[in-house]
Amino acid sequence: MTQVYNFGAGPAMLPAEVMKKAQAEFLDYQGMGAGVIEISHRSAEFDAVLNRCDELLKELAGIPDNYKILYVHGGAQMQFSAVPLNLLGLSPTRSASYIETGTWGVKARKEAARYGNATTAASSADTGFDRIPEFDVASLPKDTAYLHITSNNTLYGTRWHSFPQTGSIPLVADMTSEFLSRKIDISQFGIIFAGLQKNLGPAGLALVIVREDLLGHALEETPSLLDYSVYAGSHSLANTNNTFAIYMMGLVLEWVKEQGGVAKLEAQNEAKAKTLYDVIDASNFYIGVADPAHRSIMNVTFNLAKPELLDVFVDQALQEGLYALKGHRDVGGARASIYNAMPMAGCEALASFMRKFESENA
Ligand SMILES: Cc1ncc(COP(=O)(O)O)c(C=O)c1O
Repeated sequence: MTQVYNFGAGPAMLPAEVMKKAQAEFLDYQGMGAGVIEISHRSAEFDAVLNRCDELLKELAGIPDNYKILYVHGGAQMQFSAVPLNLLGLSPTRSASYIETGTWGVKARKEAARYGNATTAASSADTGFDRIPEFDVASLPKDTAYLHITSNNTLYGTRWHSFPQTGSIPLVADMTSEFLSRKIDISQFGIIFAGLQKNLGPAGLALVIVREDLLGHALEETPSLLDYSVYAGSHSLANTNNTFAIYMMGLVLEWVKEQGGVAKLEAQNEAKAKTLYDVIDASNFYIGVADPAHRSIMNVTFNLAKPELLDVFVDQALQEGLYALKGHRDVGGARASIYNAMPMAGCEALASFMRKFESENA
């Protein structure tokens, strides 16, 4: 088998060591004679998996004691519903504010509008979501239940470099495409959520980190399995949870620890991204999508000065083992998603392919 460097945005590549470990213990988890996904979610063995995930997340992400860690069904977009259902009750007018830095933020606001008043506090739609917009916290109405942001914008390759200080208004962040890729002060946030499928594991489950005082305010109509206090009160086992995804996340977290933790990965991620941005910045053939001051270190987006060559670029890259470089259908162009599991060698291989392609086609 020839392994490719997988630049797909998600589900994304996982560390090879994690895939091998999962394969090795797939049929026989810790000598049980059964796989971990075949045993009860209430067994002592699975309980240990769950506890270890909690422990590693607290340690690696620096999650303070007054936060609960939840494993919630349905991936990231399900949290677009869960967040308003759990928090709009904090506002007498059921109002929340959203900063729109891309498609996911727009979708999140539209979903919240099903349950209350969800308004756009700022947006960078007018510049094609190529940046994080200017925003004044003082402009938020007093009755705002929470402010929602998307911390890293997977489609456009932008991210918040520092976060708005919202005082008593809880800040909610969709960190799906960057959780554990850089050091973040969790205490700035009321809620952080992330679908697992980029930096954490398989798709279909979300990690939710919620400040304890924000539990217990769910609207009456909230389905039980979207009520964060139900998850907090049952260690995320109110029903049969996605044990496989939780187990895989546990393996990924062990890998993050073995790599030296988040600060170490952040330095590597900066260096990996720089390898690609350096090619873009030195060229008139590649045109970066994101404003340089707002660039992501997880998703590197660019167009070709000759857009008609995009399919050739993507096809030739694939011949060289560089997989899934086509940009999102809403944005076009090319995108290299370089999550924690992407080695530096993958970015170097892409950078040298880009230089070669430019010299042959400019
Ligand atoms: C920032 C962000 N939010 C939300 C989603 C949607 O995630 P899901 O497919 O798990 O609902 C994605 C895409 O994977 C994303 O990149």
